[in-house]
Amino acid sequence: MTVETEALTAATERLFASRGLRQVFAEDVMRFDLAGAEPPDVALPPGVRLGEWGSDIAGRFFAVYDASFRDRPGFPGWPAERWVAWTAGDDEFRPQWSLLATGVDGDDAGFITCAQGWIVQVGVVPAWRGRGLGAALVAEALRRMRATGAADALLDVNVNNPAGQLYTRLGFTLLGRRARFQRTVS
Ligand SMILES: CC(C)(COP(=O)(O)OP(=O)(O)OC[C@H]1O[C@@H](n2cnc3c(N)ncnc32)[C@H](O)[C@@H]1OP(=O)(O)O)[C@@H](O)C(=O)NCCC(=O)NCCS
Repeated sequence: MTVETEALTAATERLFASRGLRQVFAEDVMRFDLAGAEPPDVALPPGVRLGEWGSDIAGRFFAVYDASFRDRPGFPGWPAERWVAWTAGDDEFRPQWSLLATGVDGDDAGFITCAQGWIVQVGVVPAWRGRGLGAALVAEALRRMRATGAADALLDVNVNNPAGQLYTRLGFTLLGRRARFQRTVS
């Protein structure tokens, strides 16, 4: 038996536990209030430049996604065509807010993809982590969203992903927790 909730609370957790349900997945939905706050001012690491999504560089976005997410639990290992279709095929996809970061040596270092109202994915290849690139990509996407009058930006982050601390530091707040519980019926 599987039970899903879009708004986990301590009371729901107790209720599910009392029925023998075990949590198998949880992610936080976080929100940045674009109407109420300026996006944080985070500089790109020196020499890094950004390029907007285009079909000619979709393969490079995929390569950076693949290198960034392959160590995450549950990584699906999709081929490029599937990930590109999933990303750009969404009617709400916003190529102008979806950015590829490239270092001075020409190596792609990170990316962010966005849809209307959402940061969909952000990733930085392992060799580039911890230098502020993830924060700078999120801040730049927020600036672009705000410039078009968007009121807020949402994202999902697995509760086990330390990226949640980065989003909190940038000014995102918790909107709610989605979770899935299961009970094996014998
Ligand atoms: C999340 C991610 C994009 C951050 O990129 P980054 O360039 O290292 O980010 P920054 O340098 O701006 O910030 C680093 C912060 O990220 C957070 N962080 C994210 N993942 C982390 C990890 N595995 N270990 C430690 N800290 C991590 C910490 O808060 C860290 O802060 P600190 O440097 O003060 O310790 C990168 O770790 C990544 O690609 N992870 C795998 C893909 C992923 O999980 N994406 C987010 C999905 S919601």
